[in-house]
Amino acid sequence: MTTFDISGDLQVRRMGFGAMRLPASERGGPANDRETGLAVLRRAVGLGVNHIDTAAFYFFGDLTANGMIREALHPYASDLVIATKVGPRREPGAPMPTGQLAAGELRGEVERNLRELGLDRLDLVYLRPGGIEAPGGESIAERFEALAALREEGLVRHLGVSHVDAAQLAEARAIAPVAAVQNRFDVTQPADAEMLRTCERDGIAYVPYFPLGGFGVPDDARLKAVAARHGATPAQVLLAGLLALSPVTLAIPGTSSPVHLEENVAAGDLALTEEDLRELRP
Ligand SMILES: NC(=O)c1ccc[n+]([C@@H]2O[C@H](COP(=O)([O-])OP(=O)(O)OC[C@H]3O[C@@H](n4cnc5c(N)ncnc54)[C@H](OP(=O)(O)O)[C@@H]3O)[C@@H](O)[C@H]2O)c1
Repeated sequence: MTTFDISGDLQVRRMGFGAMRLPASERGGPANDRETGLAVLRRAVGLGVNHIDTAAFYFFGDLTANGMIREALHPYASDLVIATKVGPRREPGAPMPTGQLAAGELRGEVERNLRELGLDRLDLVYLRPGGIEAPGGESIAERFEALAALREEGLVRHLGVSHVDAAQLAEARAIAPVAAVQNRFDVTQPADAEMLRTCERDGIAYVPYFPLGGFGVPDDARLKAVAARHGATPAQVLLAGLLALSPVTLAIPGTSSPVHLEENVAAGDLALTEEDLRELRP
């Protein structure tokens, strides 16, 4: 499996793991089995995954993604990169975030991640502005400045932005280096292609969220045709397609299933051809 150096500093294998689904597969629950989640995390690392994407606002009831990562993997291997996100405000009983944290509240959220993960410094912290609507339309400068100050203080190693448009990325980059962009992207609907090209040009990691479509692997004839040619599953083709798009893309598929985990990690070694990729494009 190929690797990417985040900011020329943290080397990660390009097939990573998204932790959002560990506490519960659906927003409204039920909670997933804790022991299975811990086993998935340990197996992921055993299979060579060394990039885990999480957030303190990924929880269901008492089960938190950060807590599960800590329980399964602490003390962490020296090459494990844990990326987290701050910005959304999620109250304990709410199924999803209901607003955004103000700049002055981001220190508390970074400290919460440090505490929950059992770390002195976070490898990569994304500022995640906005809700579920299309990104953009607001300034992120004040909040990104707050994170840049925490980076200067040594609480954070690298900064990223998530769910942003080109103007917001430019705003952030004028304040501090941006190591990674985490935006929604799926090979069959490449709405964010221009952002990906910017990241590629400037050596910024591009981390598509919802790499498997977010709500179930799409029932797509093109995916099935390419998968059949390789003796692979449609999910594997989606993931391999993301990695084939550019050397800067990192995949973070989310699963709470040991079987899907094996399948997803194996997709890191699935080589798609130019013909496959042409067929997948809309
Ligand atoms: N920045 C943001 O705004 C944002 C938003 C959403 C997500 N994220 C990040 O992106 C990561 C990935 O997103 P996601 O987990 O929401 O969506 P996803 O990776 O696109 O899809 C996950 C869903 O696909 C299923 N799945 C996983 N592997 C599969 C396979 N091999 N075959 C069939 N189904 C499979 C999972 O169910 P099973 O559990 O049954 O496998 C789960 O329901 C998250 O974990 C989170 O870290 C970020």
